[in-house]
Amino acid sequence: MKPFSNVDYAPLLTSEEDGKAEDVDLNQAVPQKPTSSSNLQIWILIGSLACTLTSVLLAGFALPVSKQSLSTPPPPPSGDANLPRPNQYMGLNFIDYTRFKFDPIVNFPPILTQVDSKRPDFVYPDDSRRWLSWIGNVCPDDRHFFINSTVNSIAQFRALDYKMESCQVAINIPSPEEMLNVPPPPSGAPGNKSDFTINPTTTEGVKVQVWKLSTQNDLRVTDLSWKTRPPREKLLETLTVSHDRLAISSPFHCPQDSLQTFEFSCEPSSGDGCLIDFWQDKKEPMLAMYILQSSTHS
Ligand SMILES: *[C@@H]1O[C@H](CO)[C@@H](O)[C@H](O)[C@H]1NC(C)=O
Ligand SMILES: *[C@@H]1O[C@H](CO)[C@@H](O)[C@H](O)[C@H]1NC(C)=O
Repeated sequence: MKPFSNVDYAPLLTSEEDGKAEDVDLNQAVPQKPTSSSNLQIWILIGSLACTLTSVLLAGFALPVSKQSLSTPPPPPSGDANLPRPNQYMGLNFIDYTRFKFDPIVNFPPILTQVDSKRPDFVYPDDSRRWLSWIGNVCPDDRHFFINSTVNSIAQFRALDYKMESCQVAINIPSPEEMLNVPPPPSGAPGNKSDFTINPTTTEGVKVQVWKLSTQNDLRVTDLSWKTRPPREKLLETLTVSHDRLAISSPFHCPQDSLQTFEFSCEPSSGDGCLIDFWQDKKEPMLAMYILQSSTHS
């Protein structure tokens, strides 16, 4: 037992006598330890209670704030056409491309929203398909395409990639047969792909005017209305949109990295019945308005 007396171990009892002696020893040796450790426990308890309280308070304050900031995001910096956009494709111009072929690429508009001639100041909400799932807010990349006799759609693209500078505006509506195989949306999520409307449904389809708008700046969806939309530069083309047909414009030059802004409207002669209403869906069968960019490598 002697060797252990210098360390903190309590020796095992060998007899009842020893036991009495050791009991006394232990009680004398550690009179302060229980109190100091129970003090520590109390402080830890107080500390964790304080942390919990702080977290609850923070959550209580932060939730309404984050909801607010979600519904009214700070306006993005206005896209200044004069800001430099460095060349992302340095040195590619030295490559001999004659041996290569490049397939066209599909470019979806990051901005697609509406303006209403009957409500010139009305700004359509952005991200209206946001929904609350069990893991939190989901902000799908879905964009609404909608035109009728009073509402027009406005889309802005940036020409992508290196020397894919031949562009065509396209609207692709799947046929009813193709729509049969479309899986239903996840439960709780908006976005029933089958839920789209084209009127009139006749084989002549809907006549859609595609206007090229005159702007060098990024559009700001938070204040884009009938009044603030950029002026029209020219009528690019009138597309005929119907089921099971790819409506596609003739090619035009779209310089690398340039902004391309378009307004879609019903041809005035089609009257009040004109309507196209769908949500962009990039999955096959594609239901979308996009730009097809073809290679101009030489
Ligand atoms: C989707 O919309 C179509 C047409 O409106 C409807 O027949 C179908 O029941 C809808 N499906 C779901 C899952 O809501
Ligand atoms: C066009 O759509 C807007 C928005 O849904 C609606 O308020 C308006 O009545 C529609 N116009 C016509 C002529 O149907």
